[in-house]
Amino acid sequence: MKEQILTPVFSPQKILVVALGLAIAIALVALLIYQIRMADPYVRSVLSLNGRIAQGNAIFQMNCSGCHGQQANGKVGPSLRGVAERRSQISLIHQITSGKTPPMPEFQVSPEEMADLLSYLKTL
Ligand code: HEC
Repeated sequence: MKEQILTPVFSPQKILVVALGLAIAIALVALLIYQIRMADPYVRSVLSLNGRIAQGNAIFQMNCSGCHGQQANGKVGPSLRGVAERRSQISLIHQITSGKTPPMPEFQVSPEEMADLLSYLKTL
């Protein structure tokens, strides 16, 4: 008796269509997450304010320099040089308020103070 072995055929077109579909799905999910985060009233009010760099520096020295260093070039926590170029404002806000990366604590910061902090982080 002869055995029938079926070899599946993967056409390059099919793979391309599936890959394209996946890419679109991922983009949509990313867009959705961005929209949800942007809709957060806290994020909106932070982004609507003009932060003051000097105030942000003062807040940083009191709350953050113990871990990130007085010049923000790293100690227990990583250096924050150029961090505002690498990460979006929303992800920075999330980083500071979430405490999801221990040992960095969760900070409760008023929108004004957060705007100040962000404007300071942008100078690094
Ligand atoms: C107890 C120590 C500690 C304190 C206080 C602290 N951090 Fe952090 N921070 C960390 C550590 C550790 C990480 C790295 C977490 C990780 O991703 O593994 C981090 C990460 C970060 C990052 C992300 C850096 C990157 O490269 O993406 C930012 C931004 C940040 N901290 C800002 C702040 C700010 C602003 C404050 C003050 C309001 C603060 N941190 C206070 C320990 C601290």
